[in-house]
Amino acid sequence: MAKNGFLIHYLRSSMKKEIVLSGIRPTGFLHLGNYFGAMRNYVRMQDEYNCYFFVANWHSLTTHPDTQTLKESVLRVVAENIACGLDPEKVSLYVQSDVPEIAELYLYLNMLAYKGELEKTTSFKDKVRMQPENVNAGLLTYPVLQAADILIHRAVKVPVGKDQEQNLEMARNFAERFNYRYGETFPLPYAFNYDSELVKILGLDGNGKMSKSENQNTTLFLADEDEAIRNKIKKAKTDQGPLTPNSVMPDYIENLFTLMKLVSEKDTVQKFEDDFNNSSEGNCIIRYGDMKKQLAEDMVSFIQPIRYQALDLQNNKDLLIKIIRQGADKARASASETLSIVRKAVGMDY
Ligand code: ADP
Ligand code: TRP
Repeated sequence: MAKNGFLIHYLRSSMKKEIVLSGIRPTGFLHLGNYFGAMRNYVRMQDEYNCYFFVANWHSLTTHPDTQTLKESVLRVVAENIACGLDPEKVSLYVQSDVPEIAELYLYLNMLAYKGELEKTTSFKDKVRMQPENVNAGLLTYPVLQAADILIHRAVKVPVGKDQEQNLEMARNFAERFNYRYGETFPLPYAFNYDSELVKILGLDGNGKMSKSENQNTTLFLADEDEAIRNKIKKAKTDQGPLTPNSVMPDYIENLFTLMKLVSEKDTVQKFEDDFNNSSEGNCIIRYGDMKKQLAEDMVSFIQPIRYQALDLQNNKDLLIKIIRQGADKARASASETLSIVRKAVGMDY
């Protein structure tokens, strides 16, 4: 189909559906937290909603100013999303910097954001602590750029992990402020997860969350080789086991069960839960070594096909480039429509 024909077809077929948007920073390798907090929902949502998913490469500059490996990371994030089940024909899969309309909306929203509220956000305070030598203005206005990402498509559902709740609250505040000052323009966006609670996947030591740039040894990456997965799980924190039946589960053990529930069969989880809660002649039954071995094998079976497919895709750079170009065309069609409404509302249409 000619480019325009393709766009018209896409816009018509997606007009009536609710709009969904989410983004991932290309600051490292994707991990199980990204998958279960965000990408699993992306894949489920692609049939029901009009979806925009993107790689937040502008956001990554706030903490990772060195761009030597950025291109490679962006393409890997795209490949890993497709390997997890995203269909670039069904959704718009694009790179943030390919949609310059976002930057203009960011500018208008910046005039409605206050220094005081931005300084108070948890992620800003955390990052000031982590990089005191580079407290740049982009870091301060990070939530404004994120709001522009969302509002540029007038999205209402944003599939994200629990750590993003505050950024979503700020996006709603900026949207409300814009609507109040310039007239009703944006619907209010909310964080979304199919099960009501937002997800937070902890590291294998039960401390801190799995993350691209922190806690590397306790994070399971989608690109981890089988042996790396087995080794990390083997080293996961456990203890001598419960001393009495039906004990309270320590959080690091609960976390192993949480991971097991995500990748293992129901019966397998049930068996280890029963073992945890029962004792035989005064000794606890559960053997954490066995549980970790089982978890490691189930995790390998889960991650391995994703890793292989992502590697295959990364070897086909031309295809990845074609996908993000097509994604940018879809995203720009929607973004420019919003921007012309915004310009009119602000009075910048001459
Ligand atoms: P990271 O924190 O690893 O750098 P991003 O900030 O780019 O990853 O997050 C991309 C998506 O993955 C967001 O929706 C975020 O909420 C989600 N996410 C990241 N880490 C976790 C985690 N440990 N548990 C649940 N969701 C997570
Ligand atoms: N801040 C998000 C994160 O660190 C990434 C992101 C940027 C995002 N823009 C977004 C997520 C818009 C959802 C919607 O995970």
